Amino acid sequence: MHVAIIMDGNGRWATRRGLPRTEGHRAGAEAVRRTVEAAPALGIDTLTLYAFSSDNWKRPSLEVRTLMELFRLYLQKESERCAREGVKLSVIGRRDRLETSLRASVDAAESRTANGKKLWLRIAVDYSGRDAISTAFKSPASDAGAAIGPDVDLLIRTGGERRLSDFLLWESAYAELLFTDTFWPDFGGADLAAALTDFRQRDRRFGGLTGLSGVAA
Ligand code: FPP
Repeated sequence: MHVAIIMDGNGRWATRRGLPRTEGHRAGAEAVRRTVEAAPALGIDTLTLYAFSSDNWKRPSLEVRTLMELFRLYLQKESERCAREGVKLSVIGRRDRLETSLRASVDAAESRTANGKKLWLRIAVDYSGRDAISTAFKSPASDAGAAIGPDVDLLIRTGGERRLSDFLLWESAYAELLFTDTFWPDFGGADLAAALTDFRQRDRRFGGLTGLSGVAA
């Protein structure tokens, strides 16, 4: 089961507490840890997190720098634990605009965790769904899978907005969508479990009819 999450609401979480937005991102990194820890026991084998969209470069440079530093620290600090716990870490999105030190941390984390079988954790950084689709179309057939990942079963967006913001556009063709007002830094294992309970009550028909196995009548 593939769950994808648009982690929104860090800034508002911080502002409501009278804190700088960057503190919201720090708290958001803790929510990432909690969510990754909870995922395997809930039957999730692939988890894709939207950490930084290609449009997020428009944000103030302090915020961008803080986010990049948080990603680097996360990859450095968590990759050993991920390797121990059977979590395979991948970063999706463009790499050419990332700083050399972050690129090195991405490479190291990916190779250190390459054998993980329990959970595939994909972190989207400098990611654009439209770019991923156009890259896949321009690539030789053997490479197309690098830009396009597995189909999403459940797409969650925290923070109250109801849009896809250029995330996994192709892969979400038949995803179930779940929007919650909870700000990302408040999200945790119980919220993920509740989202999966909701998902399991949905009737996924993939364009067919309930109860038919797809055989033409
Ligand atoms: C959206 O909230 C969130 C982001 C653009 C950044 C997400 C980053 C993290 C959760 C931090 C760490 C991530 C990892 C993978 C270690 P927003 O800032 O747009 O919130 P707002 O809508 O309230 O302003």
